[in-house]
Amino acid sequence: MTKPVRVALLGCGTVGAEVVRLLHDQAADLTARIGAPIELAGIAVRRLGRDRGALPVGPAVFTTDPLGLVKRDDVDVVVEVVGGIEPARTWLVEALRAGKSVVTANKALLAEDGASLHDAAAEGGADLYYEAAVAGAIPLLRPLRESLHGDSVNRVTGIVNGTTNYILSAMDATGAGFAEALEQATELGYAEADPTADVEGFDAAAKGAILASLAFHTRVGAADVHREGITEVTAADVASAKAMGCTIKLLCIASRGPDAAGVDSVSVRVHPAMIPRTHPLAGVGDAFNAVFVEARAAGQLMFYGRGAGGAPTASAVLGDLVAVARNRLAGVRAASESAYAALPIRPMGEAVTRYHISLDVADRAGVLAAVAGVFAGHGVSIATVRQSGRGEDAELVVVTHRASDAALAATVAELRDLEHVRAIVSVLRVEGEP
Ligand code: NDP
Ligand code: HSE
Repeated sequence: MTKPVRVALLGCGTVGAEVVRLLHDQAADLTARIGAPIELAGIAVRRLGRDRGALPVGPAVFTTDPLGLVKRDDVDVVVEVVGGIEPARTWLVEALRAGKSVVTANKALLAEDGASLHDAAAEGGADLYYEAAVAGAIPLLRPLRESLHGDSVNRVTGIVNGTTNYILSAMDATGAGFAEALEQATELGYAEADPTADVEGFDAAAKGAILASLAFHTRVGAADVHREGITEVTAADVASAKAMGCTIKLLCIASRGPDAAGVDSVSVRVHPAMIPRTHPLAGVGDAFNAVFVEARAAGQLMFYGRGAGGAPTASAVLGDLVAVARNRLAGVRAASESAYAALPIRPMGEAVTRYHISLDVADRAGVLAAVAGVFAGHGVSIATVRQSGRGEDAELVVVTHRASDAALAATVAELRDLEHVRAIVSVLRVEGEP
C-alpha cells in the first residue's frame, strides 16, 4: 500500500466537521481515486471542549496549536476552514513555504492578500487550491483556471452569496422581515461567523475579486471591488420591484473592457439590483448561487448549485484535496497563478447601467418638470416616470435608460438639494434587458 497522505485540518466548524465526516464515510473511494489513503494528522480548533456532535474521530486528534500542527514533519497537506486574515495567513504561508500543499475555503484572505499565498506557493513549489472559496459546491474556479484557459473571458455575472440570496428570496416570496430571514440563514450554517460580511457585501466582494483575478489574469483584491450590501433594501423596494415585474438580487458583476480612455481594464462591482423576473438569475432562490461566464469563443456558460452550507462546501474542499494529493503522489504541481495581464481597474463612475430612483416630493405644479430637468442636466435619459399622490406629497418613481454611475451620482446629489424634494427614498440599479 502506498504511504498515506497526511492532512492537517485547521477548523472544525460548519465546514470542517463535514470534511471530517466525508473523509470517514468515503475513505475507501478516496483511497481508490487518489492511489493512497488520506489520514488526519490532527484537527486544530479554538475550543477543545466544544460539542461537535457525532464525529468519527477521537479527542486525541484535536489540538489548539494550529501552527504547531502545520509545522509537523508528518503533515503533507493543510486544509484551512477557519476563516479570517490572521492568523490564517501565517499558518498557510508557513505551510506553502515548507512545500506543503494547501486547500482553503478562505475567500476573505485570498481577496485581501492572495499575493502572499501565491508567492509562498511558488517559493515552496506547493499547490494552492481554493474551489470552496467561491460559490460553495459549484465547480467554478477549476473551469476558470483550467477549462477556459484557451479562451478569453469578458464578463462574469452572478449571485455568489447564499445568505443574502436567502434573505432577499424570503423577503420577495413571503414578505419576511430582514432580521427574521438572517436568523434563519445563520441557523442553516450559511452566514459567516460575523454576518456583516454577508449582508454588507464583503463576502460577495471577496468572491468577486477571486473570480476577476482568475477570469482576467490580473491580481484583483477586495479593495478594487465596488461594494454595496443589502441592509438598505426595504420591503417597499421589494414591492416596487414587483410592480415593475422585477425582483431584487445581490449581484456580482466583473467585466473586462475599455475604460473611458480606451485602455483595456477590469471592473468588479457588488450591489443589489432589480432584475426582470424573466431573467435566469431571478429564479435562483434559497441559498443557491448561479454564475454566468461569458467568453469570446465559448459564449455564455451558466454554473448553478448550492453556494453555502457545511456539506456542499466540504464537497468542494474534498475535490481539491483529491487533486493536491494526486499531484503529490505524481510529484507534480498544478499551474501557478496566472496574473500576466495585470490590467488596471476601471473606476465605478464609468460603470453603465439603468437606475430606479424613488423620491418623496411635494405634490405641486412644476415639481415633475424640475426633477426631469435635473436628470436632463446630467445627460441621464428617463425611460419611465410613475407618480402616486398622497395628499400634500407624492411618491415619484423614475426609471432611467442606461447611464454612467458618475452621471447618476451627480443627478442624485442635485436632487437632494432641489426644493420640494423631501427625500430620496431609494436608488437601485436595474440590470438585465428591460
Ligand atoms: P465556523 O465558524 O463554523 O468554524 C470555524 C472553525 O475554526 C471552528 O472550528 C473554530 O474552532 C476554528 N477556529 C477559529 N479560530 C481559530 C483559531 N484561532 N485557532 C484554531 N481554530 C480556530 O466557520 P465555517 O465552517 O462556516 O467557515 C470556515 C471557512 O469556510 C471560512 O473561511 C468561511 O468563509 C468559509 N466558507 C464557509 C461556507 C459556509 O457555508 N459556512 C461556505 C464557503 C466557505 P471552534 O470550533 O473551537 O470554535
Ligand atoms: N456566507 C457565505 C454565503 C458562505 O452565504 O454565501 C459561502 O461562501
